[in-house]
Amino acid sequence: MKTNTKTIITYGTFDLFHYGHVRLFKRLKALGDKLIVAVSTDEFNALKGKAAFFSYLQRAEIVAACKYVDMVVPETHWQQKAKDICKYDVSTFGIGDDWKGEFDELSILCDVVYLDRTGEISSTEIKNSLADKGAPTSPAVKDPNNNSHDNPHDNPHDNFDNKVSK
Ligand code: CTP
Repeated sequence: MKTNTKTIITYGTFDLFHYGHVRLFKRLKALGDKLIVAVSTDEFNALKGKAAFFSYLQRAEIVAACKYVDMVVPETHWQQKAKDICKYDVSTFGIGDDWKGEFDELSILCDVVYLDRTGEISSTEIKNSLADKGAPTSPAVKDPNNNSHDNPHDNPHDNFDNKVSK
């Protein structure tokens, strides 16, 4: 159903949430009324050859807590973007310019914008920097509420301010 709400969507892993992520969300939210963030699941990260420090549920919970974010959905495969754009009546797809040109084909469905990355910060940078100092590269304490499911609705702490959706 068409509405007057201008919806923005973005995709990413968002591990070790940092100010580069916050600034991206702030700029994306300023482009419209509602910001949807699709957070890569652990299985999708494995497919991308990426290992996150925090699990999908932990990353989704953190992203949902950001004031610029209205809704969190799981990103499970490369092809879901076009479907999401139609499903959520998205006006603008936005992502950092490390992806410049990669999603131009979506411009038949909505506006596509590549925003400047914030300089000198990345999850990888944080991990490398901590590893240099001998910090553990996986969580020292297991989250007792975490489980192996990627479905937030299977988790007793699934509500995350009602922002997390399937
Ligand atoms: N991003 C950004 N500025 C940064 C880091 C990331 O704008 N300094 C954006 C990316 O361009 C992307 C989104 O945040 O649109 C999610 O990126 P992600 O890969 O999860 O964050 P990185 O910090 O780049 O993580 P990694 O080092 O694992 O690639």
